[in-house]
Amino acid sequence: MSKIRSVIVVVLLWCLASTLFVSAQTRKQWQNSPDIERRVDALLKQMSQAEKVGQLNQYSYGTPTGPATGRSAVEDSIRRGEVGSFLNVTDPALSNRLQRLAMEESRLKIPLIFGLDVIHGYRTIFPVPLALSSTWDAGLVERVSRIAAEEATSAGIRWTFSPMVDIARDPRWGRIVEGAGEDPYLGSIMARAYVRGYQGETFGGPTSMAACAKHYVAYGGAEAGRDYNSVETSERQLREVYLPPFKAAVDEGVATLMSSFNTINGVPATGNEFTLNQVLRREWNFRGFVVSDWGSVGEMMAHGVANDLPTAARKGFLAGVDMDMESNAYFRHIADAVKAGQVPQAAVDEAVRRILRVKIALGLFEKPYVDEKTAITTLPAANVAAAREAAEKSFVLLKNDAASGGGPVLPIRPGVRTVALIGPLADSRADMLGTWSAQGKQDDVVTLRAALEARAKRDGFRLLYAKGTEIRGTSDSGFAEAADAAAQADVVLLALGEDQSWMTGEGASRAFIDLPGNQQQLLERVAAAGKPTALVLFSGRPLALTPVVPRVNAILEAWSPGVQAGPALERVLFGEAAPVGRLTVTFPRSLGQVPIYHSVLNTGRPPIGLDLTRPPTNGGEKYRSRYVDEQNTPLYPFGFGLSYTSFDYSATQSNVQQISAADLNAGRGQVRVTADVKNTGQRAGEEVVQLYIGLRGTSVARPVRELKAFQRVALGPGESRRVEFTIGRNELAIWQRDTTYTVEPAELTIWVAANAGSGTPITISLK
Ligand code: NOJ
Repeated sequence: MSKIRSVIVVVLLWCLASTLFVSAQTRKQWQNSPDIERRVDALLKQMSQAEKVGQLNQYSYGTPTGPATGRSAVEDSIRRGEVGSFLNVTDPALSNRLQRLAMEESRLKIPLIFGLDVIHGYRTIFPVPLALSSTWDAGLVERVSRIAAEEATSAGIRWTFSPMVDIARDPRWGRIVEGAGEDPYLGSIMARAYVRGYQGETFGGPTSMAACAKHYVAYGGAEAGRDYNSVETSERQLREVYLPPFKAAVDEGVATLMSSFNTINGVPATGNEFTLNQVLRREWNFRGFVVSDWGSVGEMMAHGVANDLPTAARKGFLAGVDMDMESNAYFRHIADAVKAGQVPQAAVDEAVRRILRVKIALGLFEKPYVDEKTAITTLPAANVAAAREAAEKSFVLLKNDAASGGGPVLPIRPGVRTVALIGPLADSRADMLGTWSAQGKQDDVVTLRAALEARAKRDGFRLLYAKGTEIRGTSDSGFAEAADAAAQADVVLLALGEDQSWMTGEGASRAFIDLPGNQQQLLERVAAAGKPTALVLFSGRPLALTPVVPRVNAILEAWSPGVQAGPALERVLFGEAAPVGRLTVTFPRSLGQVPIYHSVLNTGRPPIGLDLTRPPTNGGEKYRSRYVDEQNTPLYPFGFGLSYTSFDYSATQSNVQQISAADLNAGRGQVRVTADVKNTGQRAGEEVVQLYIGLRGTSVARPVRELKAFQRVALGPGESRRVEFTIGRNELAIWQRDTTYTVEPAELTIWVAANAGSGTPITISLK
């Protein structure tokens, strides 16, 4: 009987896998469609050189999202066919007006494509991407990006500059908020989910929007976490850490990529023949087009690899950047470079082909205009509900201790009489939206204060509110009122954190990653009241929370939760929804530990028994890879997150003790790993069960642990579930310094665990 059941399961899994594969293939059909290629051929035959080069230009029209360049006579340029795309046009009437110039007054009637940074919602603003990744829920991310695409396309935006799939391990970097965190495996899963959501089932459907995987590549490796800074990385790190999420996006059929601002080992990513032409085009067979980042072609002069704009244009173009965003370099210089024999005509034709391929496949030629009447202006109720759900699932409970004489502070118990809500983030609509809020409106935001006021009325408790200080405040004039509110309360909620527009996102790196302004002092003053106190933390990055942790009973990381911040928080704080998020970035104890992430190498001298209260002994602790004044371990590891219940893991089991590496390389054999996970608490909850591996005895040093799989399980009180994973070639193969990946004979360690810092490993021999 059980044999029959396993056969059925295998068949079902096979069907599911082949459906996924088939649908990824179907979604990519436009990339190799003879019909589309014929249409491109026909157009190319008619195009003048000026019209060809015209397609390679993108200009901003509207609120600039980079250093303002200023341009006039745009309309005549469109008439002459000298513009391929605009970004930042958000008014449907304006986009129709510009499109009419292209469709009615230009010779060849090639439609413009309008792009925008639709990063975590268009009109309905969802949690920021780092928060969305904390859901570990690809289905949810796909739904969120589908909704964003439906809303944005209703306003004529057919191209989003999302997803940002940069792996980031330095919380100083302001843009860590825009990605899915530190891990390439999770990052790849999320990359695929965004692409599926934006581009939809059929690329070219009315609500389908071209996605753009950015910033290609290694932008997240900015030295010292300073935005736009140089990146030094090995090819191994490039191949195993930075490239995989881009590869995943390409495999999922992403239509475009954006080249990044940074240099990679001295070569600007925007003029990088290796990453663009070699890896992306030749190795991965990418069929869409690459747009530069804002001005990044021209910035090759500042990098010092081009002394003038013509050289920068040539370098960017020959390396494989098809469209120039806002450098005015291609427009001015590519035709001359062809004349001078420096750029082959075939390269121009090929770049134009890639752009036209996307425009045709998107259906822009048939449907260039947006219906101004149906452009979204108010928030659809279903989208608001989705925004609340996404926010609820993105919160990460970092601490939840008992206050003296009671149980855990969260969830707040029914019957509470007085709640004090204190802090500059409690009622700040702007900060709930987060960076890149597209057409989001502050008026749509429900803050924590507004949600709690409504609840206080409903439930009949007293809500005391005190702002306490400003986000970057220096004055303590509001402290007394805050302390007074705390003194009167049964429970204190502190709403503290970062200024979302100023301190997170692009050009927003921080050299200090603690609570800004005098919020730490406010926290200490409020905590002195000795009441059960929970911190709701709004941040776009991991903060160094060491001074915070001992002062409060509970910490809920809420990121920038979007328009439904208040209702989502209120439901989690009062226990109608459970916290289910898990960290996708490591939280350091102190700034001195960064960059910090879970998949580190062991070093030749890993630390032993760190006791920081006395000098290290020479025999044991001294000559070790350690700090004399800080632990090596993080404050909260990757994958960490508490819930309102507790989970127990049984020992990890596997179906084999030994397996042949040669078999795995030949695609034969898999390791089946199981563990029983039990909800040992009183409430229902969800756990993200994570599988990590480590390899020893390999040709190169491997990370101590790498995430290779995860599953989310929902368990009622007392319920137990056997969680099963299979790992094989994909999970175990190592990059071999060329373009191949091989499973090497090694000792394989596997953890099925709640986070990167826990679990009991088992060992298997890869012979
Ligand atoms: C610069 C940013 O780096 C990029 O992410 C964004 O898409 C472009 N500007 C366009 O706004």
